[in-house]
Amino acid sequence: MSPLRSPEGGGEAEHRRRESQRQKPRVVAVDGPAAAGKGTLARRLAAELGLPYLDTGLLYRAVGRRVLDAGGDPRDVVAAEAAARALTAADLTRTDLRGPEADMAASAVATLPAVRAALLDWQRDFGRTHGAVMDGRDIGTVIFPDAPAKLFVTASPEARARRRHAELAARGVVRDLADVEAEMRARDAQDAARATAPMKPAEDAVVLDTTQLGIEEAFQAARVLVRARLG
Ligand code: DC
Repeated sequence: MSPLRSPEGGGEAEHRRRESQRQKPRVVAVDGPAAAGKGTLARRLAAELGLPYLDTGLLYRAVGRRVLDAGGDPRDVVAAEAAARALTAADLTRTDLRGPEADMAASAVATLPAVRAALLDWQRDFGRTHGAVMDGRDIGTVIFPDAPAKLFVTASPEARARRRHAELAARGVVRDLADVEAEMRARDAQDAARATAPMKPAEDAVVLDTTQLGIEEAFQAARVLVRARLG
């Protein structure tokens, strides 16, 4: 497989369209901690707006998985950067990118500036090419600081742990709720404390707390906010 390529076509018209997108990308940034509901919201917003959707967490998960497969340590910068530079589109469709081991490996490689740098241009090209709804931790702060619409989706740690626990149960994975919450808190702490591109709301992001909201209510709130920002 070839390394990750930007979703770009060719031709003069396409070039001009890309140049204008480059100046003002129609990007909706959806950042926030684990299990806050940002993936569900971002996917629905993308469908509503007719924009491509990118789950940027998958990139870090795939890098972590490659390092684990090779018997390496996800905190080893040489191994992790090599894995990031060798990433292919096929890596993102693997079925073993979720679960406690993949979660922590993703969070570990994500602390490394060299890994983040290796993934930066690809994410920017993705968003600039056709516009996009992108979910992650640093979309509004680092990847697209000029995105016209930014959401920071959050919820209480207890609510997020209950949701993650229920998601796992629905997939037939039986876990102790307390363990799920402890792992989630550890990962959030690592994601928020790292020096490079830490998880935090952009100054111009709208914070959406979904603790008390169902999926439909959260989506309607997000839709109104994003429509107002996109004009
Ligand atoms: O969104 P997720 O839970 O699938 O992300 C997995 C890990 O990847 C997360 O713990 C931190 C990292 N990540 C990141 O640092 N920046 C992003 N834009 C997306 C994810």
